[in-house]
Amino acid sequence: MQQQEAWIIDGARLPVARGGMGGALSLMPAEKFGAHLLKELVVRSGIDPAEIDDVILGNVMGAYLCFARLCLLEAGLPVSIPGYTIDRNCASGLQAIAAGAQAIRCGDASVILTGGADSMTRQPWFVEKPATGFPRGSLEPRVLAGGRVTAPDCYGGDSMGETAENVAERYSISRHQQEDLARESHRRARLAWEQGLFDQEVIPISVPQAKGGPRLFDRDETIRDDKQLERMPSLPTIFRQGGTVTAATSSPVTDGAAAVVMMSSVRAGQLGLKPIVRVVASASAGVEPAYMGLGPISAVRKVLKLAGLSVADLGLVEFNEAFASQALACYQELGLTHDIVNVNGGGMALGHPIGATGARLTVTLMYEMARRGVRYGLATMCVGGGQGTAVVYELVQ
Ligand SMILES: CC(C)(COP(=O)(O)OP(=O)(O)OC[C@H]1O[C@@H](n2cnc3c(N)ncnc32)[C@H](O)[C@@H]1OP(=O)(O)O)[C@@H](O)C(=O)NCCC(=O)NCCS
Repeated sequence: MQQQEAWIIDGARLPVARGGMGGALSLMPAEKFGAHLLKELVVRSGIDPAEIDDVILGNVMGAYLCFARLCLLEAGLPVSIPGYTIDRNCASGLQAIAAGAQAIRCGDASVILTGGADSMTRQPWFVEKPATGFPRGSLEPRVLAGGRVTAPDCYGGDSMGETAENVAERYSISRHQQEDLARESHRRARLAWEQGLFDQEVIPISVPQAKGGPRLFDRDETIRDDKQLERMPSLPTIFRQGGTVTAATSSPVTDGAAAVVMMSSVRAGQLGLKPIVRVVASASAGVEPAYMGLGPISAVRKVLKLAGLSVADLGLVEFNEAFASQALACYQELGLTHDIVNVNGGGMALGHPIGATGARLTVTLMYEMARRGVRYGLATMCVGGGQGTAVVYELVQ
C-alpha cells in the first residue's frame, strides 16, 4: 500500500466563551456548539460528508455515552459516520488529532474530522451511588463537581491550582514573573484580533440569551484590556495562603470548541485539495501528579526524538499555558524563548476549555505557520493528573 501522510486541510474554532452564567456559550450544551462548528467546517472545507470515515473528539467535562457520535448527529452529518471520544484529560483535543493521524497513516481511514469541545460551565454534578443496593438509614449524597481538576488522593489530591503553586515553589518563579507573562498573553491576543489574525480560524455562532433573542458570538470574551490588567497585582492568591498564583495567572474557566479536517495525502491528492500542515509525530509522557504542569517537558523531548528534530528546529510553539508558573518552568527546562511561543496569546488570555484546547492550539498554530512560512511547529500541553502531550506539525505548501 502507498505510504499515507496525515494532512490537515482546514481547521477552525469557536470564539472562546467565559465560563459560568453570563458566558456566551453558557446556555448551550457542548454537543450543540460543537455540532455547529463541525457543520460549518464541513461546509467551508467543501468536502463531501459521505467521504468522512470517522469523527474523533476530545471531551472531558461531559457525561455522555459517546460525545463525538452525539455531536456529529447534532451536526446533521450522515448517520453512517461513526464517532468516538478521547479522554486524555486536558490534552484530549490534541490526542484526538494524534489518533486521527495514526488511523490515516496506517491506512484505516482517509478522511477524519477531529478536535474537541467542552463546556466547563455545564460540567455535570455527580452524586455517588450508595455502596449497597438498598441501604438503610439516611443517605447523604456527596456531590462530586470538579473531580477532573484534582490530582488523585493517593498522590496528594492537589487541585490544579495547587500544582501550579508547587511548580512555582520548585522553580522559584515569583508572582511578578507570572504576572508579566499573563500581561503579555493578553496583549498578544488583543493584537491578534486587531490585526485580523484570528479571522480565518474563528467561526461565529448564534447563541441564545437569558433575555431577548439570540445574538451573534464572534469574538473571544476572555481577553482583558490594560485597564483591567492594572488590577492584577492586587488580586488575592487563590490556591495557597502566602502563595503566588492568582486568577490572573491561571487560565480562566471557559467553554469552547475547535476541529480540523484531516485527510490522507493520497485522497487529498485525488481530490485536488491542498494541505496546510502534516502531522509529523505525537507523544505523551507521565510526570508526578503534584507537578502536572511539568508534563510538556518530557512529552516534548519524546516527540522531538520521534520526529528527529531539536528545539532549534521549531519556528513556532503553541503551549496551553494552564498557569503562568508551569509555562515558565517548561520554557526554562526546554530552552524555549517566549518570542516563538504563543505568539497570538496563550491560555491566560484565551482560556483552556479542557477537551477543546489541544485542537485550538493546533488551529492557531497552523495558520500562523502558514503566514510566517515556518517549517516546523509544535503544540504541547500539560495534563491534569500528571501527563504531557505534544504534536509536531510540518508546513506543506
Ligand atoms: C483561578 C480560578 C479559580 C478563578 O476563578 P474565579 O474567581 O471565578 O475567576 P474570576 O474570573 O471571577 O476572577 C476573580 C477576580 O479576578 C479578576 N481577574 C481575573 N483575571 C484578571 C486579570 N488578568 N487581570 C485583572 N483582574 C483579573 C476578576 O475580574 C475577578 O475580579 P472580581 O472578583 O472583582 O470580579 C479559575 O479561573 C480556575 O479554576 N482556573 C483554573 C482552571 C483549571 O484548573 N484548569 C485546568 C488546568 S490543568
